[in-house]
Parts: sequence; structure tokens; C-alpha cells
Amino acid sequence: MKDASPQTIFLKDYTPSDYLISKIHLTFDLDDTNTQVISKMNVSANYDFKSLKRDLVLNGEELTLNKIFVDGAELGADQYELIEDGLVIKEVKEEFILEIHNTINPLANKALDGLYKSGSIFCTQNEPEGFRRITYFIDRPDIMAVYTTKVIADKAKYPVLLSNGNPIDSGDLEGGKHFVEWLDPFVKPSYLYALVAGDLGLVQDEFTTMSGRKIDLRIYVDKGNESKCDHAMESLKNSMRWDEEVYGREYDLDIYMIVAVDAFNMGAMENKGLNIFNSAYVLADPKTATDSNFFGVEGVIGHEYFHNWTGNRITCRDWFQLTLKEGLTVFRDQEFSSDMNSRVVNRIANIKTLKSRQFVEDAGPTAHPIKPSSYIEINNFYTMTIYEKGSEVIRMIHTLLGADGFRKGTDKYFELFDGQAVTTEDFIHAMSVANDNYDFTQFKNWYHQAGTPMLDIKTSYNEAAKEYSITVTQSCKPTPGQDEKKPYHMPFGLGLVSKDGADFPLKLKEVFTAQPQIEENILHLTQESETFTFTGIDHEPVPSFNRGFSAPVNLKSDRPLSDFVFLMANDNDEYNRYESAQALAIELMSCLVKDAANGVPLKLDAPFIKAYGELIKDESLDNSFKALILDIPSEGILHQAQDVVDFENTFKVRKFVKETLAKTYEQELSAIYDSLNVDKEYSLSPEAMGERELKNLVLGLLLSTGNSKYEDLAYEQFVKATNMTDEFAALTMIIHSDSKYADEVIEKFFIKWKHETLVMQKWLTAQASARGEKTLGRVKELLSNEVYDKSVPNLVRSLIGTFTANYTEFHKASGVGYEFITNQIIDIDKLNPQMASRLAGSFKDYKRLPSDLKALVKTSLERILAEKDISRNVYEIVSKTHADS
Ligand code: PHE
Ligand code: ZN
Repeated sequence: MKDASPQTIFLKDYTPSDYLISKIHLTFDLDDTNTQVISKMNVSANYDFKSLKRDLVLNGEELTLNKIFVDGAELGADQYELIEDGLVIKEVKEEFILEIHNTINPLANKALDGLYKSGSIFCTQNEPEGFRRITYFIDRPDIMAVYTTKVIADKAKYPVLLSNGNPIDSGDLEGGKHFVEWLDPFVKPSYLYALVAGDLGLVQDEFTTMSGRKIDLRIYVDKGNESKCDHAMESLKNSMRWDEEVYGREYDLDIYMIVAVDAFNMGAMENKGLNIFNSAYVLADPKTATDSNFFGVEGVIGHEYFHNWTGNRITCRDWFQLTLKEGLTVFRDQEFSSDMNSRVVNRIANIKTLKSRQFVEDAGPTAHPIKPSSYIEINNFYTMTIYEKGSEVIRMIHTLLGADGFRKGTDKYFELFDGQAVTTEDFIHAMSVANDNYDFTQFKNWYHQAGTPMLDIKTSYNEAAKEYSITVTQSCKPTPGQDEKKPYHMPFGLGLVSKDGADFPLKLKEVFTAQPQIEENILHLTQESETFTFTGIDHEPVPSFNRGFSAPVNLKSDRPLSDFVFLMANDNDEYNRYESAQALAIELMSCLVKDAANGVPLKLDAPFIKAYGELIKDESLDNSFKALILDIPSEGILHQAQDVVDFENTFKVRKFVKETLAKTYEQELSAIYDSLNVDKEYSLSPEAMGERELKNLVLGLLLSTGNSKYEDLAYEQFVKATNMTDEFAALTMIIHSDSKYADEVIEKFFIKWKHETLVMQKWLTAQASARGEKTLGRVKELLSNEVYDKSVPNLVRSLIGTFTANYTEFHKASGVGYEFITNQIIDIDKLNPQMASRLAGSFKDYKRLPSDLKALVKTSLERILAEKDISRNVYEIVSKTHADS
């Protein structure tokens, strides 16, 4: 360990800072290895000065301190003290100007946190605690200041010099240097601070806000990539319009800048007026980007833009409040994407992510509530739970209050807290007071309890009384180290579907409580167990539960499988048509996995085959929706239903089911492929994307028949493709089916695209996700390929990250997969602890592994823990996993 003993930080220990910094002026003289930083700050006591400790403690990491001045006088060695990761200024006054001179080495910064170089671009990443790697500061989000920045750099190498806010001065300096000075008039926390310098290409546009102000929109990219910014720019303008229309929020500065860099730990960052993006979420053209890349660009551009109000104008008091800005902003970007595209398709995609990734996290060793009560390393808490479950919690509030009530709540939130650093309690308070003091007391359990609740539902029909009852019992497995769980208040969408497919009107027999128990077909669940009886139901209905996925829960019910078949075809809630198909397949496939383990020959349920066929033949279905509903559950989803995970048989069963369905409906599938595989002008409309999606799904099914003519078809698609969606889909399928064309397409694709790093990332992904003994060897070889660079997170994710999700190869009984990944974690941790810690998360299934694999993982975890210099990031994840046995 780098730290002797890693400290746990607790929410209950929060106290406001003794001192505040209201203004800061920064000067940077940029140099690869020796950047000079001068920081001049206005510091003042936050409380009655008499009661305060006189030592001012500043954070600082990886800095070289040169000089300190207080009110213009240089401090002597006895007036300050350098401590581990910080600096103490002794005997300070109630109010003073503190000036610090220090140097940093951006080129050596491979953690990509603070000021670093991505290729030839200087850029920053300061959330959550990067600013302390730039200069000494009270680096916490409740210290909000006005920032001014003067950037000095070589004019030829770095013609573009950017920071937050508006440019206020610029000019030439001696020695071929120049400077630009920026002022951001809005107070902000240090994590939103940004600086960029480079020789960048620029794409410009403008947007007129609802009050008629013209905003200068700028996207900066590596020269040569300017033509790939159209979609990002369009998405930005759409986001700006949408936030005005749906939330009444107008942009506040005169300029909005986005910079794309290749080396970035996350997706993007919402720095005030100067977003810095992973280039994967900016650059997109049809030749190099898939439809899902385009979709990702739109979503992330929206997400960062929406942060301007939910995150920047109102920020977090401390990092335990992270979901305050992230859950809310994810909810906003999901709704934006739903308005720009097909709502149901987008909702299904979001729920798929939640179930396949967040549910796993919530059941694993790093489970935490959306508002955690402690952490060792805050970077480990940028999780699916904080973001995606956080968004579902906001969505439930939206459901409980309705769209108008929710909007009243957000208006109130902005009115009460603009310019402040606040808590999730403050958000709930605004929602409540704007809605007749709506009672969120019980609802708040969602903020403090981890784990995915389970709803066990029993139904009964009383024919004589024409009454139908459902009894819902909620439970949530204990999370180690956390309090016993209390029942949640949740909105539960319900439909009772009659024989002819129409919904019965829902009339509750008795109403017990003051708060409404049902509104617009949404039941309010509040008790551990409760029964709802509906009257006027003249024949036994088929119940449709949790419509629209109104609550983020798992369901268990006594419904016969035939109900799922019925709902697949008849549910008026499209989401539940999809969900019923999934639930049925999960149920059947889980049984097959057991059969396979017991050596019972596999046989697929006839009614399921028939129902699946109905979907294939249903021409009324939207193509995107059809592609989703025909896609059988993933291995990851199937693993969740297993007490002890069976990787081999899960893979085998999935393959068997695909093959069986494809052979049964070969003709129909082939006809669909032919009808969609026609020359057409490329379009990004939802219809065109749906056609490509269904076509490629169908091609995958056809390939699983094993008939070699489909190999030829896939090869033909690969060769003829004029867009990356079709080209990459064919590439992947050819590699994954271990076709005779595999080596050839790998080679061809490489030669064609080796100069496009984003495309090479796809090439790595396709190879690292292939099944079979060959894969690990190939992955190891690719480590020394010219396009691979372990200091670029996207490349690590594509090659190494993808391999950890290749269940059968990563979890090989011989232990070779574990050994490889363990070595990678240890190696990458020396450069980039955040990246290493993400990889360490791939041991999350530890507890549920068969005993031989478990023993191997234990050895791996212990080997990592025994490393002398592991980061806090990796330590936290690995030690929590190790304890979870
Ligand atoms: N705040 C960023 C977002 O959600 C994510 C991020 C976190 C980026 C930490 C970098 C570092 O948009
Ligand atoms: Zn965010």
C-alpha cells in the first residue's frame, strides 16, 4: 500500500470548512515536465474567528512547493509545514491573501487526474479530487470560488489556450510564448475547474436561447477530425433547446466549449463552460461510428450539458451527495434521449443496463446505497448504483408527483439552492414543499439502503364476488455491514389484462390510508406485505406487474408460464411485452442450465418456440423493438438467477437456444434479412437504425444454424458495408462464429482502420470477446500491437476490460484468465489506479463461484493485496471482494 493505513471517510463526520476561499487567480506557465503554477487566493474565516483553529490545512498531492506569500510577505520555513498529501499554513489571520508557487509534471501524470497530457494536448480532470494535484487548495466541493486563469504557453505548439468562463485578455510574450486570460463569473467548486492547451481544430456554431441571447458553441478536436463533429453539435443544440422546454433552464455564459481528448478515464466531464470529453463521445461519422456510438454521443453530450444546472449551478456539499447531481442528471439525459428517439426502445435499453450491471453490483461485494455512508476512495463510487439506480430513484419521484409536480419541484430546487453546495435532503425538501409537503419520509429509505428489493407476489381470483387480489411482499437481502432493511415506498405500475387484451379498469375495494394507494394505475407499496383487492373483474385476468419498470426491483410470482406467453403478445405496456419475453426465457433457460449440468439432453419448450415465432412473424412491430425482444437474455442476466454461477453451461445453453430458434425459423429470418439488406441511402433516423439493428440480430441468429452459406453472407456484408454499424457487426459475428473468414477479416479491418484509434478499439473488442482457447493468446499478443497503449483507458477497456466480460475464457478452470488479469491489474495500477480499480471489479462474482474457481480467485486477490505499492483505489475493491466469501 502507498498509504500506511487507508482511511475510511464517513458521512457522519462531515463538518463545514473553518476557512473559505472566495476568489482564486491562477497563472500557468505550461511545460511538459515542469509547469509553473501560481495561485493567489482570498481566504477568510467561515465562523467566528475566535473559535477557530489557526492552522489552515490545504490538500496537495504530487506537487513541488516553491514559495508561499501571505498578504505579499514570503513565509519562512517555520510558518508552514508540508504534511502527507498537504500543506499547513500556521497562525493565519481572519482574512488574507495567500499566494502559492508550485510546479507540476504533466507528462508524468498517467493517472489522468489533475493536469496531464493526452497526446499533444494539455488538459485537466479535477472531479472529484484532481485539483489538489495542480496546486494546494481546500479541495472539497463546498468551497466555492470565482476563478480567473492566465494560461501561458508556446504559441506555435499551443495556439489554443482555454479555461472556464469568458476570455478577458490575450497577447504575445517573449520567447515565442503567448497568453490568454479567462474569467468565470460564476462561483464553482474546484472539481469543475478546467484548462486546455493545444493545436486544435475547431468547429463552431451558435444557439439562440429562449431570451434571445446568442451563445457561441465550440467543439475542439484533433486537427483532421473536424468533419466528425456534426452529430455532437446537433446533439448540443438539441440539449439546450430541450432543457429550456422541459425544465425552463437557459444557458448562462456566452460561450460553451467542448474539447475531445483520447486519454480520459470516464465518458466526459461537465467543467463549467469547458466540457472535456473522451473522444469516443464526440467524434462520430457513419464510416467510423456505429449507431450505438451515435446514440452514446447524443446521450453524453446531453448529460454534460444538463449538469450546467444540475451539478454546476447547484452542486454537492460533499461527495456522499454524488447522486444528487448524477442520479438527477442521468434521469434528465435518459428523458432527453427518449424524447429524441423511440421512448420505449430507450427505456428498455436503460433497464437492460440497470439489470445487467447495477443489479449485479447491488448483490456483490461493493454494494452500497445511492447515498453511501462511507468510502475509502471516492473515485470508486462513480458507480452504476450512484448513476443508474440514482436515476431510477429520481424517476420514482417523477412517477409519484407526476410530470407537473416534478417540474414544480425542480423549479423550487433552483429557486432555493442556486449557487449553493447542497445535499440530497435539500432536493427532497424542494420536491416536497412544491407539492403540498408530500411525505417522502419512507421514500428516503431508497437513499440509505443498498440491494435490489424483491417483490414476491401472490394472486387470487374470487369468481363469485368478481374480485381479484394481489398480495405483495417486499424483501431485500441483508447487505454485510449495513443496518437491517425497512420496507420501501415505491410506485408499482399494474395492469389487469382481460382475455381480449384490454385492461380492466382498476377499482380498489377498500382504501385504508390517507395517502392515495392508487393513482393512474400506479399502486403505492409501503408495507412489508399488503393485499390489494380489485372489484368488478368479471373473469380471471392476466396481471401485468411493475409496468414501465416503475420501481427498480426483482419480481417473483405464482403466475404460470402461459401468462408470460400471453403478455408477450398482448400487454398494452410495451415495456412489459419485452419484459415478459425476457422473464419467460430466463425461467426456461435457467432450467436448461441445470439440465446441462446434470447431463440431461437439452430440449426447448414448445410454447416458447411458438411464441418466439409469433414475434418473428409480427410485421406490426417496430424493428428496433423487435430486435430487442428477439434478443435472448445475456449470460450475465442468466448468472444472476444462479446460486453458484455455471459459466460453461450458461454459454452452452444460450448457444443451444439460439441455434434451435434459428433452425426452426430459418426461412422467416432469412426473408427478414433479405428484405432489410437493400441498398439505401444512409440515414440516422430511428427507422433506419432499427432496420440495421434487426438485420444484424437476424444475421447472428442465421449464423448460429451452422450453415456455411450464412458465413458467406456475413463475409459479403463485411466487404460491402458502407457504414460502421454493418461492418463492425459482420466483423464481430465472423470472429465469434470462428468462421473460415475470421483471420482474413481481422487483417483487412486492421489495414483499413489502423490510423483511427476509435475504430481500433472496436477491433480489439471483437477479438477479446471471442470464445475459445485461442482468445487469451490473441489478447496477450495484442498487448504489443502498434495500436495498443496501456496508458489510454479506452484501449485498456477494449482489450482487457472486454476480456474480463468474456465469461468462459476469463473464468477458465486452469486459472490462466485470472492470472492474466491479476498481472494486468498490478501493472496498470502503477500508472492509473482508477483504471486498475475498475478491472479489479471483475472479481465481483467471487462469492458465487464454484469452489475450484473460488480458490483461484482467492489466490489472485491475495496476490494483489500483498503488492507493496497498490493504490487505495485497488485496495478498497480487492479487500471488499476478499472479505465477501
Ligand atoms: N462527472 C462526470 C459525469 O458524470 C463523470 C466523471 C467523474 C468524469 C469523474 C471524470 C471523473 O459526467
Ligand atoms: Zn454526470
